[in-house]
Amino acid sequence: MSTTGIAVTEPGATGLGAVVTGLDLEAPSPADADALRRALLASPMLCIRGCRATPETFLRLGRVFGRPQRELMGVLRDPDFPEISLVERERGISTATGKRATFGGHWHTDDSYMAVPCAVTLLYGEVVPPSGGDTSFTNMHAAYEALPAALKARIAGLGAIHTYQSRRNLSPVPERSAEEKARTPPVTHPLVRTHPETGRKALYLNPNRIDHVRGMPLDEGDTLLDELIERATRPAFVHVHAWAPDDIVIWDNRCTMHRASAHEGDHPRRLLRILIEGTVPV
Ligand code: SIN
Repeated sequence: MSTTGIAVTEPGATGLGAVVTGLDLEAPSPADADALRRALLASPMLCIRGCRATPETFLRLGRVFGRPQRELMGVLRDPDFPEISLVERERGISTATGKRATFGGHWHTDDSYMAVPCAVTLLYGEVVPPSGGDTSFTNMHAAYEALPAALKARIAGLGAIHTYQSRRNLSPVPERSAEEKARTPPVTHPLVRTHPETGRKALYLNPNRIDHVRGMPLDEGDTLLDELIERATRPAFVHVHAWAPDDIVIWDNRCTMHRASAHEGDHPRRLLRILIEGTVPV
């Protein structure tokens, strides 16, 4: 039996933010892979420190968590590695003021506008600014568990319509090609989903992509969504990750949301992203 050389800290008070050290990215052993998968179930956002990655070693790490997806959006796709998306300000779309929008600058979970959203995201900080450009995460298990019993009962069994360009969308989104549109019709997902590996419940929200609550008048659904989002993003559930060069941050989209912060100045910020195939939310 192989042994693991990695060490994993406990998550913080939010239940997120465990730190992994000692990983040999060139040759993760089966024991390392098991330890990483267990670590992500225990801390649904974690950071691997100090691993200089290439696209090849990053993809090898991605495969520890499942099958990397081909990036749907041509504007983000790495031309040489179609399972890698390039996250950088230059690719964000222009706003009305002529500035570039911060990619992922509002709370969201990746891919919820898809019928089968990705399970896990890996983000590698290839070039990060010396300050700013943090990424924040919120723990949707903890947020669900803290809801008043009456609110849990009210949302049990409710579904929400997620769509690429929703009426509640806060972030400008790039135009889709005809093929991208055909592959992303509106979909319904439960407001509370059960994690397929742990059986634990989590709020499943995406302020950017949820259009409305199914079967509810729009204003009533909007009020409900606003309350759930406000509760889910309270500071008690939020962990802020300040990037150091070569950090690899990994999160479970089935039970977290995240958002990027803008950074001032011209310092480049370039991250490589891999999305791991998921299952239909239930
Ligand atoms: C994302 O939302 O996937 C990007 C997060 C970041 O750039 O910090």
